[in-house]
Amino acid sequence: MAKDGVREMHKWLRRLKMGMLAITVGTLMTGCKILITGQEVAKQAKKKDNQILIGFSMDTLREERWQKDKAIFEQKVKELGGDVKTLSANGDDNLQLSQAEQLISQGVDVLVVNPHNSKTTAAIVNKAHKEGIPVIAYDRLIMNADVDLYVTFDNVKVGELQAKAVVDHMAKESKGNMVYLGGADTDNNAKLFREGAMKVLKAEESKGKIKIVYDQYTKDWKPEEAMKNMENALTANKNNVQGVVAANDGVAGGAIQALSAQGLVGKVPVSGQDADLAACQRIAEGKQTMTVYKPIKSIASKAAELAVALAKGEKIEVKNKVHNGKINVPSVFLEPVVVTKDNLVQTVIRDGFHRMEEVYKNVPKDQWPK
Ligand code: BGC
Repeated sequence: MAKDGVREMHKWLRRLKMGMLAITVGTLMTGCKILITGQEVAKQAKKKDNQILIGFSMDTLREERWQKDKAIFEQKVKELGGDVKTLSANGDDNLQLSQAEQLISQGVDVLVVNPHNSKTTAAIVNKAHKEGIPVIAYDRLIMNADVDLYVTFDNVKVGELQAKAVVDHMAKESKGNMVYLGGADTDNNAKLFREGAMKVLKAEESKGKIKIVYDQYTKDWKPEEAMKNMENALTANKNNVQGVVAANDGVAGGAIQALSAQGLVGKVPVSGQDADLAACQRIAEGKQTMTVYKPIKSIASKAAELAVALAKGEKIEVKNKVHNGKINVPSVFLEPVVVTKDNLVQTVIRDGFHRMEEVYKNVPKDQWPK
C-alpha cells in the first residue's frame, strides 16, 4: 500500500481508537465476526506499519534550554525507532495552531505540545483528538482540554526553591525589601513558579522578615522586559531592594543588568532557573545566587518514551494527576535541583550539561574548584 494510503488508514483507525467504542469488524477472509475495541484495532495496525511519527509543536527555541529539549527529544524518539517532525512557533499563538494543524495533517501518531499559551492551545488538543491523535503536554500544561498526558518538573517546588535561596542569602539583614519578577502570564508554569515562591515569601513577610515591594509577570519571558521591571522596582524603592526572586535565568539576566547600572550586582541576591550557561557563569562569578537545574535529558527522554509507547497503543501508568480546569490529567513530575556556587561541579558540570572551562571562563584559573 502506498505510504499515503497507509496514513489514511491509520487516521481512520485512530478515530476509532479515540472514540473508545467497541466496534464490530467483519473479516472477509473467514467470514466470521469478531468483537474488538478500537484501541486494539489501532494496535494491530501499528504492528503492520512500524513507521511511528511523532509531532513536536514547540512554543519557541529562544531560551537555550529549548534547543536541548528539541535535540534530546528527537534523538530519543529515533533511538526508539520513530521519526519526529518538530515545528517551533516563535511565541506566536496563531502560528503554533497552524503548525500543529500541519503536523496533524501529516499524519503524526502522537502530538507533543509545549504551549506558548496554556489556554488557546486547547484548540490544538481538540483538533488532534478529532483525528484520533493523543496529545502530550510538554513541560507546560494545556488548560481546559482533554490532555492525554503531561510531563513536567515539580513547578511549585521550583518557585519554593528560588524564594528560599534568596531569603537565605538575605538572612544577615534584619529586614529586606523583596522584588518578585515572574515569567509570562500566558504560561501556566509561570503561575506555579509564583505560587511556590509566594508560599515562602508570604510566610517570611508575616514573620516581619521581608516586605514584598514589587510583584510583576514578565511579558513573554523577555529579558529586556525583566530589565525594565527591575528598573521600575529600583526607582520606586530608591534602590532599597535586598532580594530578587527571578523566575528564570533570562529574567535574572535582565534584572542583573538593571542592578549593574546601580552598582548593586553581587550585593543583592538573585535567583534563576534553567541552568543556562550564562547564568552558571554568573553564579561562578558571584553575580547570581542560584539557578534551578532541570535535567533536560530526563524530561525529553521521558516524553519521547511515553510518546512512542502511546503511538504503539501501549498502556501507560503514571502516579500523579493534575487538574487543568477540565479533567485530571495523568502527569509525570520530575525533580528540580538547586544549583549554587557550592555545587556547580557536582550538578551541571558532572552531568555534562556544561563544561568546566565554559562555566568558569570568566574566573581566574587559580580560583577554579579543584
Ligand atoms: C519553563 C522554563 C523556561 C520558561 C521560558 C517555562 O515554562 O518551565 O524552564 O525558562 O518557560 O521559556
